[in-house]
Amino acid sequence: MRLPLPQVEPDETLPESVTVYEVGPRDGLQNEATIVPTAVKVEFVRRLAAAGLATVETTSFVDPRWVPQLADAAEVLELLGDDGRGPARPVLVPNERGLDRALEAGVGAVAIFGSATESFARRNLNRTIDESVAMFRPVVERSRAEGLWVRGYVSMCFGDPWEGPVPTGQVVDVCRRLMDLGCDQLSLGDTIGVGTTGHVHHLLAGLDAAGIGVDRVGVHFHDTYGQALSNTMAALQDGVTVVDASTGGLGGCPFAKSATGNLATEDLVWALQGAGLDTGIDLDALVATSTWMAGHLGRPSPSRVVRALSAD
Ligand code: HMG
Ligand code: MG
Repeated sequence: MRLPLPQVEPDETLPESVTVYEVGPRDGLQNEATIVPTAVKVEFVRRLAAAGLATVETTSFVDPRWVPQLADAAEVLELLGDDGRGPARPVLVPNERGLDRALEAGVGAVAIFGSATESFARRNLNRTIDESVAMFRPVVERSRAEGLWVRGYVSMCFGDPWEGPVPTGQVVDVCRRLMDLGCDQLSLGDTIGVGTTGHVHHLLAGLDAAGIGVDRVGVHFHDTYGQALSNTMAALQDGVTVVDASTGGLGGCPFAKSATGNLATEDLVWALQGAGLDTGIDLDALVATSTWMAGHLGRPSPSRVVRALSAD
């Protein structure tokens, strides 16, 4: 028998409300080898917003030679019109050239993206950590002067495929440096999905001790080892209220060996609804969107909830 919704049993250990920060159109698509038509990307964002996702990261203004899939960032935003602007439609911006392009497209929010490790900073940004912080400084300063909302991602917070374990102090240091630039929010990236729940509690405690409270922090778990949802619930129990997720569980980073999809938004919504949180998100509409997108990508969604709800 198909269960259309989970049975609701409130979980008092969770916060009263959670903001789902949807990254499907950006993190979800950036790793796809076959170019997705611009019109499909635009419809993807529209369908996500219509399903009740208030915050949708729409695209990236990175060097198109590095990420050809998102070379059409300006066209996507032009076609989205007002639906692609405002503080709830962030875009990735690595440098001032990217910011110029994003401002020209009329964005209302940007996200810079640093790394807790030197290896990934080099591979993802062609910079050392110091050089990348220097690259971000004018981006954040100018963004704030323009009144944009600014997020700072930190990748490899829970482990790095080249360096192995990443000391918590090293992660906290990079987080502190990005927040000191003037970011409004931090997103802790488990880029290769290796983290576990104790590690999540430990890192959040380390950040708190460094003056970065859970009210400034979002979590970004990739699901490579099947830990994304349990890690997310652990973070929520510690008081985090912003969770990154990707509809259908798409995602990955072209520059991180062994990175797979993000936490699937459907899996998250199922868990939150069951725990009695009103997300305002229409799960059936999300599943229909993932099934539609899977048709364009030519393979089924890895999300368990999508599979269960789309099976007859
Ligand atoms: P670089 O080659 O060092 O760049 O790349 P450069 O500053 O030396 O410039 C070289 C040329 O690129 C110049 O053009 C620039 O104008 C151009 P030329 O003079 O040769 O004709 N250029 C640009 N063109 C368009 N837009 C731009 C831009 N920047 C330079 N923004 C750079 C450095 C940072 C640009 C490059 O490394 C890059 O684009 N990296 C992006 C990598 C990326 O997108 N990774 C995926 C996102 S991060 C992620 O997925 C992790 C996350 O999800 C969290 C997690 O899971 O952990 C966020
Ligand atoms: Mg990611």
